[in-house]
Amino acid sequence: MFVNFRRIHKCQCLQLLTTGVLLCMLMVYWEELDHHVVSHVRSFTYRYMINSYDFLNSSFAINSNHHYRKGGSNRVFGGFVNYSYLINHPEKCKGENGKSSNDVFLLLFVKSSPENFERRQAIRDTWGNESFVWAELGVNMRLVFAIGTHPYVEQRYKVQTALLKEDKVYGDLIQQNFVDTFYNLTTKLILQFHWRHMYCPQARFVMSGDDDIFVHMPNLVKYLQDILRSQSGAKDLWVGHVHRGSPPVRYKYSKYHIPYDLYPWPSYPDYTAGAGYVVSGDVAAKIYQATLLLNSSMYIDDVFMGICAKAMGVSPQEHVYFSGEGKAPYHTCIYDHMITSHDHISDVRSLWRSATESRENSSTRGIIGNLYCTAVRVMLLCLPHYQNTYSCSAAFT
Ligand SMILES: *[C@@H]1O[C@H](CO)[C@@H](O)[C@H](O)[C@H]1NC(C)=O
Ligand SMILES: *[C@@H]1O[C@H](CO)[C@@H](O)[C@H](O)[C@H]1NC(C)=O
Ligand SMILES: *[C@@H]1O[C@H](CO)[C@@H](O)[C@H](O)[C@H]1NC(C)=O
Ligand SMILES: *[C@@H]1O[C@H](CO)[C@@H](O)[C@H](O)[C@H]1NC(C)=O
Ligand SMILES: *[C@@H]1O[C@H](CO)[C@@H](O)[C@H](O)[C@H]1NC(C)=O
Ligand SMILES: *[C@@H]1O[C@H](CO)[C@@H](O)[C@H](O)[C@H]1NC(C)=O
Repeated sequence: MFVNFRRIHKCQCLQLLTTGVLLCMLMVYWEELDHHVVSHVRSFTYRYMINSYDFLNSSFAINSNHHYRKGGSNRVFGGFVNYSYLINHPEKCKGENGKSSNDVFLLLFVKSSPENFERRQAIRDTWGNESFVWAELGVNMRLVFAIGTHPYVEQRYKVQTALLKEDKVYGDLIQQNFVDTFYNLTTKLILQFHWRHMYCPQARFVMSGDDDIFVHMPNLVKYLQDILRSQSGAKDLWVGHVHRGSPPVRYKYSKYHIPYDLYPWPSYPDYTAGAGYVVSGDVAAKIYQATLLLNSSMYIDDVFMGICAKAMGVSPQEHVYFSGEGKAPYHTCIYDHMITSHDHISDVRSLWRSATESRENSSTRGIIGNLYCTAVRVMLLCLPHYQNTYSCSAAFT
């Protein structure tokens, strides 16, 4: 068939051109589309149509003939290695001088790295200040930093010396003999739940967070106290920013790439973002049990936590003011509600000051204040700013 070019009008030309450009773009960006859209669609279909992860139990159960392998000075048990402690504080949760009792309300694990001295100091001075939580909030909080060894052998000795010195002053480091890398994060998760089991089983709540988050401790403690006082009490709690039906990243060059032989299914069980989440004591005990039974080769720690929880019949619960990877906007009307916020390194001290200062007489109180704050939060959270922060629904709480 011949095309009569003279009969193709200008606008048709434009149409053709647009279609062509769109097709080209589709082809160029197909890989990204495939990863972001198609895998999510597949994941959600999978999640809601099959909606059962019972297979996870058996697939991740460790092969019994792997039990009790010897691994040098560290013993391999089932799916994990029982690394020895280089720095430890078994007495951390015991009452000292009758000043505070054994009754630990919150055990706070901060996942840190050996070289992050400044971040740890900022946390001790602000939201991780045990004395502040005791004096101002009236509960017993225990802070420990979970770390491995420095990844570069040539710097390890120097950094380790500095760590021992730091620990002598603050007594809040727990370190095991594994290399502190991204791919050993699951080992760090296991360290936390095993440490709690051994040295702090009485803690009512256990929190785990990164060393670049901000925690509004007064809001968190109040929230947990309300749960403790509620009818069901502090049971079965696993709260944070929940990722539902996330697909594994199959893109080879991503940090989060998971090969098919490690995790063949199109969707992860639900899990909370590892940046900061809280579990009740009974859930922490169940996760500990699961780490003894399951294969820990899944190196994304929060996904591994989801697998453990699934095997124990625990599901996570969403709280709109746990930010996950998001960063809270700076505003008084946000500070009244926020629990965690991610990506705070240089501003931890100033944020702590402004977020915890007394607002007894401030304009954000009363009916007018509430209306004003709701409006501000809608502006900050619901209008598209293209930045990762709390979800829009948080504006209305
Ligand atoms: C754990 O899973 C990995 C990958 O699927 C496998 O290579 C390894 O042998 C398993 N380990 C145990 C102890 O079952
Ligand atoms: C790990 O090793 C320590 C010290 O040898 C021991 O007390 C503890 O029970 C071990 N943990 C497990 C889960 O076997
Ligand atoms: C921790 O809090 C206590 C009690 O509020 C306060 O006296 C102390 O100065 C704080 N410590 C630091 C390092 O800010
Ligand atoms: C994790 O730590 C162990 C023990 O130090 C080390 O042998 C291993 O290479 C580390 N894994 C990664 C992926 O860094
Ligand atoms: C398998 O998972 C279910 C919950 O989904 C749990 O009740 C059961 O105890 C698990 N079985 C094993 C062997 O872990
Ligand atoms: C709030 O206002 C009252 C009365 O005006 C005053 O007595 C009180 O000191 C104020 N509180 C603060 C924290 O500013």
